[in-house]
Amino acid sequence: MRMYDVIAKKRDGGILTREEIAFAVNGYVAGDIPDYQMSALLMAIYLRGMTDEETAVLTEVMAHSGDMVDLSAIQGIKVDKHSTGGVGDKTTLVIAPIVAACGVKIAKMSGRGLGHTGGTVDKMEAVPGTRTALTREEFFRQVNEIGISVIGQSGEIAVADKKLYALRDVTATVGCIPLIASSIMSKKLAAGSDAILLDVTMGDGAFMKNLDDAIELARLMVSIGTAHGRKVAALITDMDKPLGHNIGNSLEIAESIAVLKGKGPADLTEVCLQLAANMLVLAGKGTLTECRAMAERTLQDGTAFVKCCRMFAAQGGDVEMVKDPDKLRKATYSYEITARENGYIAKNDVEKIGNASVLLGAGRIRKEDSIDFAAGIVMHKKLGDKVRSGESICTFYADDPALFAPAEEMYRGGLVISDQQPNLPPLVYARVT
Ligand code: URA
Repeated sequence: MRMYDVIAKKRDGGILTREEIAFAVNGYVAGDIPDYQMSALLMAIYLRGMTDEETAVLTEVMAHSGDMVDLSAIQGIKVDKHSTGGVGDKTTLVIAPIVAACGVKIAKMSGRGLGHTGGTVDKMEAVPGTRTALTREEFFRQVNEIGISVIGQSGEIAVADKKLYALRDVTATVGCIPLIASSIMSKKLAAGSDAILLDVTMGDGAFMKNLDDAIELARLMVSIGTAHGRKVAALITDMDKPLGHNIGNSLEIAESIAVLKGKGPADLTEVCLQLAANMLVLAGKGTLTECRAMAERTLQDGTAFVKCCRMFAAQGGDVEMVKDPDKLRKATYSYEITARENGYIAKNDVEKIGNASVLLGAGRIRKEDSIDFAAGIVMHKKLGDKVRSGESICTFYADDPALFAPAEEMYRGGLVISDQQPNLPPLVYARVT
C-alpha cells in the first residue's frame, strides 16, 4: 500500500477502508509516513469528510495506538466526562466531587490548557503541592479508597492523537467534525471508563459555532462510544459567554469551591448540576429528576465539598487553601477595565476573553510555556448585563503591569456595548443520547 494512493482516494471523495486508515495512522505513529503526507490526508479529510463508519474505524485505530487503560481493578461503575473546550470552564472541579459524593467512582484523566481554553490539570496545580501525575497503582488505590481521582493524561494514551492533534493545530485542520470526534473518543475509549458524558460546547468561544454542527458532533461521538459498549450521552452547552465570573487558574479554583459550598454563580451551578445529574443517570443511579435532586443534596449537605478536600489531600494538595481559597497566592497588580459608554453588553467575544487571560499569564501560547496561577480576569459584567459609563466591566490580575495594555486591547476588541439588550442563549441547548 502507498500513502500517495490513500491521499488521492480521499482527495477524490472515496471511502477509506479499515486497512487504509490503519496503514496511514500506524505508519504515521511509527515515523514511516512523513508530516507532509499526513497533512495532505488530514486536509483531504477536512474537505471531503468521512462517513460514520470511517470515523468509527479511525477512532478505534487511534485508541489502540497507545495503552488501553483497564480500570477493572476499581470496583463499581466508573463515569468520565469530557468537555470540547471553553473559557472559564471549571465544571470538572465541581462535577467530579458531586458525582463521587453520590457514590459513583471518578477515575478521570484531564488535560492542560492550550490556546484560549483552560485545562483542569493546570487549575488543580494552582493548589500548592497537588500532584497530577500518579502511578497507576496510586491512582487505582485512591479511587478505591475515596471514590475520586483526577490526574493528567499519560503520554501513553492515544499516542496517535497526540501527534495528529499537533499536526492539525498547524495545518488548519482542527475544525473538522470527524477529526474532532475521533480525537476525543479515542482518548475516552482508551481511558477505560464504563460511561462517558460529553459536554459539547457551542458558541463563539467553542469549536462548534452553531447548533446543527454541535448536534452532529455529539451524535457521532455518542454513536462511536455506544458501538464500543460504553454508555454515552451528550449535552450541548452554551459558550457564548464564559461560565461563572472567574478566568484563570487560582481564580477558577476559588469559584469552583464557592459552587461546592453552595455559594457559586447561578449559571455555573446550574450547568454543573445538569452535567452531574446526567453522569449519575449514565451510572444507573435513577431518573434525571432523581439524579438532579441527589446532586443538589451534595451541595446542600457539604458532602461534595468534603470529597473535593479529600481528593486534594490524597494528591498532596494544601487542603487549608481548598477550604479557604483566599489563602491562594494573589497577583501583585490589578487593573480595572471600565465601560466607555452606557448600554448593554451586546457582545463579549469569548475567544478574545480567553486570549486576554493568556496574555495576562494565565494560559499557554506554546506547550512549553509556564503559567502564572494567580493571573486572570474576574468579570463583573457579562453578555446582556447593563453598564454605566465608567463602571468596571472586569478586573485583570497579573504580576507584570506591562501585560495589562495588550490584554485590554484584546478584551476590548471583542466587546460591544449597545442600547439594545441582546437575547441571551440558554445554558443548555439539547441532550443527545
Ligand atoms: N478536543 C480534543 O481533544 N480534540 C479535538 O480535536 C478538539 C477538541
